Amino acid sequence: MKIYPLDKDINLDLNIASSDKSISQRGAIISLITGKKTILRNFLFSLDAISSLEILKKLGAKIRIKKGNVFIKPPLKFNDNQILDCGNSGTLARILCGVLPFLNINAKLIGDSSLSKRPMDRVTKPLNSFGVEIYGNNLPILIKPSKINFFTYENKISSAQVKSALLLAGVLNNGCKYKESFLSRDHSEKLIKKMGINLYKKDGFIIVKKSKINPLKIDIKNDPSSAFYFAVLISILKNSRVVLKDVLLNKTRIYAYKILSQMGVIINFKNIKKDYEIYGDIEVISPKKLNPIVVDKNISWLIDEIPALSIAMIFANGASSVKNASELRKKESDRIKSLAYNFNKIGVKFKEFEDGFKIYPLKKECKDVVIKSFDDHRIAMSFAILGAKIKLQIDDVSSVDTSFKNFFKILNHIGVKFES
Ligand code: S3P
Repeated sequence: MKIYPLDKDINLDLNIASSDKSISQRGAIISLITGKKTILRNFLFSLDAISSLEILKKLGAKIRIKKGNVFIKPPLKFNDNQILDCGNSGTLARILCGVLPFLNINAKLIGDSSLSKRPMDRVTKPLNSFGVEIYGNNLPILIKPSKINFFTYENKISSAQVKSALLLAGVLNNGCKYKESFLSRDHSEKLIKKMGINLYKKDGFIIVKKSKINPLKIDIKNDPSSAFYFAVLISILKNSRVVLKDVLLNKTRIYAYKILSQMGVIINFKNIKKDYEIYGDIEVISPKKLNPIVVDKNISWLIDEIPALSIAMIFANGASSVKNASELRKKESDRIKSLAYNFNKIGVKFKEFEDGFKIYPLKKECKDVVIKSFDDHRIAMSFAILGAKIKLQIDDVSSVDTSFKNFFKILNHIGVKFES
């Protein structure tokens, strides 16, 4: 795809109409365990979230979709011996590991070639240690019917996927105590509480007590990680402003906006409302100049946004760095390598480290660059945003559909022109 730079200033309200992926997927997975009808309003219809609905159907759930809302009725008895395809979604594969063994079925989890390379032992190992019959360090993963006692687990890594899997394993058995090195996104805790389950925090642990489970009926707001691409676009333009409407504002998800604000971008959170999560509007105004930044804290709150942040960094008036972020190497692509390859092509100086990188300002525009997306949606969208500033091509943007089907439609609505 060829992308052409914008030739005008922007000033608009933008509803990205792309619901939160983490909550859509959690809502779908959790519907399996309630025994009653779950209602997910404004569900995300991206490929990753659709993979979760396809898995529910294979297990025997009845699904009705009406005007963007999804109604899910789990079966009384789940279908046995199914091969369940998680597509490209690590969230789906890992969280299912904490649920499927307790549905009294055998199952096999598979995924695409990228997902099949990603580590699954971070979830299968602890589950094995509590006596769960789940086999595989990578996909495919084999699952057998299991039952476990109350367990305690302290995780050295901060992973929302692992935390969600283990908390749900606790919900479906006899409860658990879970501690993580640093708070990862906490949507699962909020949804578990919303289902009436006794979950509380004590001495740094999350404690889940066996309780009656009520079904979820929730509204899902726009995904702050998807909306962030447009915040970066405003940050690298002059005299522009956007209000991103109805976005999830969970503190573990909006830290990248705070980094932009530290770089000099004006960011205002407005119309803040509270449901089971907080949400509202984010106003983003172009800065007079962008300051460089060192990003070395709260990395699990930024891991999905670092590729987009790196685009803002090359317009700063000095070198920026990212540290303590080796998890970037375990995402849909090795994101440090993917960035290194592409910035090298553009002529941006980029020093790669095991756990991060140092990146220097863009000096001169380079002609006829072809960016490689490495089948990673976040790499493709980050460089598409750069394409609205300097002319470039991206080899393959199909991965964008895994999280954000409307992305190019919205880019077009803003005035960015492109050719497939
Ligand atoms: C996610 C958690 C994060 C994030 C991913 C979505 C989730 O991964 O990178 O895109 O929905 O739980 P980790 O939990 O592995 O850090």
